[in-house]
Amino acid sequence: MLVSAKEMLTKAKAGHYAVGQFNINNLEWTKSILLTAEELKSPVILGVSEGAGKYMCGFKTVAAMVKAMIEELNITVPVALHLDHGTYEGAKKCIEAGFSSVMFDGSHYPIEENIEKTKELVAICNEKGLSLEAEVGAIGGEEDGVIGSGEVADPDECKRIADLGVTMLAAGIGNIHGKYPENWAGLRFDVLAAIQEKTGTMPLVLHGGTGIPADMIQKAISLGVSKINVNTECQLSFAAATRAYIEAGKDLQGKGFDPRKLLAPGAQAICDTVKEKMELFGSVGKA
Ligand code: 13P
Repeated sequence: MLVSAKEMLTKAKAGHYAVGQFNINNLEWTKSILLTAEELKSPVILGVSEGAGKYMCGFKTVAAMVKAMIEELNITVPVALHLDHGTYEGAKKCIEAGFSSVMFDGSHYPIEENIEKTKELVAICNEKGLSLEAEVGAIGGEEDGVIGSGEVADPDECKRIADLGVTMLAAGIGNIHGKYPENWAGLRFDVLAAIQEKTGTMPLVLHGGTGIPADMIQKAISLGVSKINVNTECQLSFAAATRAYIEAGKDLQGKGFDPRKLLAPGAQAICDTVKEKMELFGSVGKA
């Protein structure tokens, strides 16, 4: 059964650890992440971007696959199925399709419009018992063709959005999706502390979890981050393992071309990456 992210994040906040959101792109990724979460007894959030949803034949297909997999694999840890960087329309579609959590990314709208749209979604999510993530201050980098400019959020605007009753808040603090450039200035911990001070106990979300040094991750958690999103790192480890398998020529010999064999090293690489992150975030054994 899917659960909202609310309880797992409230517990993470109180326990000073973070729950990982790992983005899924296909059946193999989903299976790897769920099995690793179960093995490590960690709560987990499966993130689905609108592009990944389209690729997997729509949000209904994704919701049905994840729910069935939880049952067939006997997954007992809390799992939230979450729309990542959703549009207003996308959020509504996911709510209808049976997701247990949605992110409405209104960070590119003027703040008044972000507030209006977020407010409407808060009402819908509250009624249905779903968790809702809002965003203030676009996250840098590119994701699904959406390019953020790496803004740093205004703590007062964060408070206005938090006060609408969202479950968790993503705020730009110099974080970037994808790989960080050589000259990256690092996370703005001063802004993170100011945002948390204004928003009380609101669980904060750190996007762009790939490539942030471990000490910065730990400091961010100590300042109130309770959800950390990871996508690119899984893509990189999946691609590297698949490439190594193909370059070793195994796909051309015997039954090596069998997709179940071809995708196995990549699936294992996802398990390894997820395990490493759950250990770093401190969520192991917290389910
Ligand atoms: P990375 O791709 O940098 O890990 O970021 C993932 C993310 O923030 C998804 O919303």
